Amino acid sequence: MSEDNSNLIHVYLDDGDEPIVSYRPPVRFELDTTQLEDGPHTLKVVATDASGHKGVRTIPFEVRNGPGIDVEGLQDNDMLEGKVPILLNAYGGAKEPFWEPSRAETPAPVPTWAWVLLLVVVAWSAFYIAQQWNAPDEFASSPTYSLFTGEGEYAQPAGEAPSRSRANIGATLYRTSCSSCHQGNGEGVAGAFPPLAGDPVVTDEDPTRHIEIILFGMQGKAIEGVEYSAAMPPFAKQLSDEEVAAIINHERTSWGNDAPTVTAEEVQKVRAEGD
Ligand code: HEC
Repeated sequence: MSEDNSNLIHVYLDDGDEPIVSYRPPVRFELDTTQLEDGPHTLKVVATDASGHKGVRTIPFEVRNGPGIDVEGLQDNDMLEGKVPILLNAYGGAKEPFWEPSRAETPAPVPTWAWVLLLVVVAWSAFYIAQQWNAPDEFASSPTYSLFTGEGEYAQPAGEAPSRSRANIGATLYRTSCSSCHQGNGEGVAGAFPPLAGDPVVTDEDPTRHIEIILFGMQGKAIEGVEYSAAMPPFAKQLSDEEVAAIINHERTSWGNDAPTVTAEEVQKVRAEGD
């Protein structure tokens, strides 16, 4: 018996009287915690040498095979009053075959800062859209952003400041169709292209000749004693009545010119007679 006990290692669990294992060192064994209750335990290892001296080592440990528990709304030693809403969640556990992250997520309300951030973003986008709603002038007069809204829209009393967008249409069309020859300032190029500023046709009370020249072109005529070898190209095919009226009104109210303006109907009439 004493022979048996020498050089043996006994392992005790939770102050049990009987060792759960007894082996000669070194000992490798498996502790099956699934047989133990969740909670604190102790493992005591007792080794005896040949002369009968005992060495003892006690190791406290904790078993947790059940699911983790999450408690929302109550903390250790909280002071409670009246009714208290408490949210419980349990997740994980040694027996669960798959880790399911959604099970570990305790539902919580959307934090205030997230609401504030959302509100700021929404408010800013609303502000931005509202700000962009009125297209800037150079946009408003571009062909993509609504050009002509109706017939005869371009009649403007001479001397009165024409409405901005219509004036812009005339100015834009002049810039694209005419200014390469007559120049942006209406001064033309001496000897090559006649000036339109102060030009007798452009400032004539009767716009018929003015309309004819834009629609059907002109060639080989002396203007105020100057012969022009280049031709004034016809624009009847490129420009609508409204566009011709807009350009003519731009010429008649720009560069110091102050002549009566025309309507799309007047242009249309001249166009019909010329055909
Ligand atoms: C290719 C160059 C060129 C372009 C582009 C051009 N013109 Fe002319 N324009 C002339 C020339 C050259 C004359 C003079 C022709 C002549 O004397 O026979 C002229 C004459 C005129 C006249 C007559 C002036 C007068 O007193 O008889 C008017 C008005 C006029 N142009 C307006 C315009 C307008 C508006 C546009 C754009 C829609 C335009 N022109 C585009 C070259 C051009």
